[in-house]
Amino acid sequence: MRFEQHDIEFQCAANETVLHAALRSGVAITASCRNGTCRTCMCHLQSGQVNYQVEWPGLSFDEKADGYILPCVATPLSELIIDKLVLSSA
Ligand code: FES
Repeated sequence: MRFEQHDIEFQCAANETVLHAALRSGVAITASCRNGTCRTCMCHLQSGQVNYQVEWPGLSFDEKADGYILPCVATPLSELIIDKLVLSSA
């Protein structure tokens, strides 16, 4: 997995959320609810595909189609390149 904007790479297991893998690797993605509803963690995929641990994460159909994901409930289905994300300042 790669965060293009910050030139950061790390591994994410198929059964691990993108948020969990990022935090485990020291990448502090801004997050709040961690259940796919608040949208705080929303970021954009440049390439790759994800699966969701919840039926319908807090994204509109158009946002999903445009490549936006919620890392707190997304697990990788392929290599991911994320080009827009917000890192926590804490
Ligand atoms: S932290 Fe709330 S949707 Fe991801």
